[in-house]
Amino acid sequence: MNTTLPIACPGTAGESALALQATPTDPDKRRWLIASGSAGGAAALATAVPFVSSFSPSERAKAAGGAVAVDLSDIPPGGSKTVGWRGKPVWIVRRTPEMLEALQGHDAELADPLSIKDQQPSYARNAARAIKPEVFVAIGICTHLGCSPSKAPKGGNDPGLPADWPGGFFCPCHGSTFDAAGRVFKNKPAPTNLEVPPHRYAGDMRILIGEDAAT
Ligand code: FES
Repeated sequence: MNTTLPIACPGTAGESALALQATPTDPDKRRWLIASGSAGGAAALATAVPFVSSFSPSERAKAAGGAVAVDLSDIPPGGSKTVGWRGKPVWIVRRTPEMLEALQGHDAELADPLSIKDQQPSYARNAARAIKPEVFVAIGICTHLGCSPSKAPKGGNDPGLPADWPGGFFCPCHGSTFDAAGRVFKNKPAPTNLEVPPHRYAGDMRILIGEDAAT
């Protein structure tokens, strides 16, 4: 399991794409910057730490290890939300039927299409890498050197992506690409799929990050 804090990649051309804005579920609408593309690795690491220390005591406890409850009802289809868990950004993406369909047909291009490597709980070892296919939960940290990948939808015009890009995530630090289930493409620097943290449903529209049925 990757325990590295996300870092920004120094000096990349697509620096603005590195900034991962995360919106806490709190009503005060605070936003924080997980990683800043304009800083070097060490500076960006320093940027990432205050994101935890700026929490209230109860939020800090959650970020330090407690389960984090996430309301799914305000995430539109195709949208996403990022929450902090154990000091890491966790993405919750509501995938559309089109996004799920785009997971098919490129297994031969993936390094670990069946999620054989231990990067997810057993209940997420399936094609969608999820409990419910329409909700994808993953730690938003590249498995290469810990940068924060960006969402890269199908039909985007990022020059670092192929014309037949099915949609997913792109790490501009060294060019690793992941599909919309966080499965890494072959011959990329990232050695494994994105990590899926333990999680479980506590209602139709509510999940707990950091806790599963076995805990
Ligand atoms: S850190 Fe993502 S490709 Fe290197």
